Amino acid sequence: MRLKTTIKVASPGRINLIGEHIDYNDGFVLPAAIDKCLYLTLKSNGDERRCTIQSKGFDSVLVVDFSELGQGTEGWHNYVIGVISEIQKLTPRLKGFDCAMESKVPVGSGVSSSAALECGLAYGLNELFNLGLDKWQLIKIGQNAEHNYVGTKCGIMDQFASVMGKKNYTMLLDCRSLEFEYIQTNIEPYRLLLLNTNVAHNLSTGEYNVRREECEEGLELLAKQHKVEKSFRNITLEMVQSSKKELRKVVYNRCSYVVQEIERVLKAVAFLKKNELKEFGALMYQTHEGLSKKYEVSCPELDFLVKLSLNNPNILGARMMGGGFGGCTINLIHKDAIEDFIQEASKAYKNKFNIDLTHFQTVPSNGTHLI
Ligand code: GLA
Repeated sequence: MRLKTTIKVASPGRINLIGEHIDYNDGFVLPAAIDKCLYLTLKSNGDERRCTIQSKGFDSVLVVDFSELGQGTEGWHNYVIGVISEIQKLTPRLKGFDCAMESKVPVGSGVSSSAALECGLAYGLNELFNLGLDKWQLIKIGQNAEHNYVGTKCGIMDQFASVMGKKNYTMLLDCRSLEFEYIQTNIEPYRLLLLNTNVAHNLSTGEYNVRREECEEGLELLAKQHKVEKSFRNITLEMVQSSKKELRKVVYNRCSYVVQEIERVLKAVAFLKKNELKEFGALMYQTHEGLSKKYEVSCPELDFLVKLSLNNPNILGARMMGGGFGGCTINLIHKDAIEDFIQEASKAYKNKFNIDLTHFQTVPSNGTHLI
């Protein structure tokens, strides 16, 4: 088969309407790809093992030799090296390539610029060298790159959303079975507005993995005590409550959040399907409350913005989005109220934290694709 010479790929970030921190807990999530992408241009360079990757905005070029994959020296390097390494575990057909990329996905904002990079690169290399990998393999390559090279034991949501996204649809993903459903998402006259705190408290990777361990600890005990198979899908809030004494306090809180959030997503999807956006929004607020108080992955900046939105009748729901400790809030807001709210929030946020707030609107968009 003849190899293509140069290809261009667009790979989006993601939003998540509801279902946070439960993708690695056998829960449900409701993400979508967004209209902000990372763009990659890839060509084979005729070499067996050597590749170069250049990222706009960074001076240095990353040079990788397949035979000696070390750790990278800059933040984004390990995503690239991780993807190459994971592809090599699956196929010997990868050859030398040159890649130039430019990202329009805000970094450190909770919209998963990292999944955009992992999935875009995996997708592009699959096309360029006819590797024959299917979409789920590309998704897993991205996730494993993050586990094995970056060190975040992330769930599957971000890579799934980046690859499988579809214009005008959110996706209900069952993270246990990996079955999913596209849900037409028409929220007129409302919009999805992201407010970026522009803080990224450096806790994220470490604390993320700690949350995972705490949930694992709780689940182990709950499953034994209630004699069910080890999955949060078999655990009810009543079970968690009846084991309160045996669970460490933080573990109790984490597990209560998880089982409630799993239920909440299904309720939210039912509302979305009936276009009952007010009820949907109320659940977004509940999620935020849980993430802030029980799961403890929010921060004062995110809490401040969500609280501010509560006083605004034109906002049906708001919450922190993604891993937390900074990044964006997602707001379900009436289109006519956007400008005023941005002004009000920017002013209040600046007064309180002396940080400039940034913002953008987005819509559910197509997943990683060739351009
Ligand atoms: C990060 C992870 C995801 C998910 C979210 C929280 O974005 O990469 O797998 O766990 O946090 O919902």
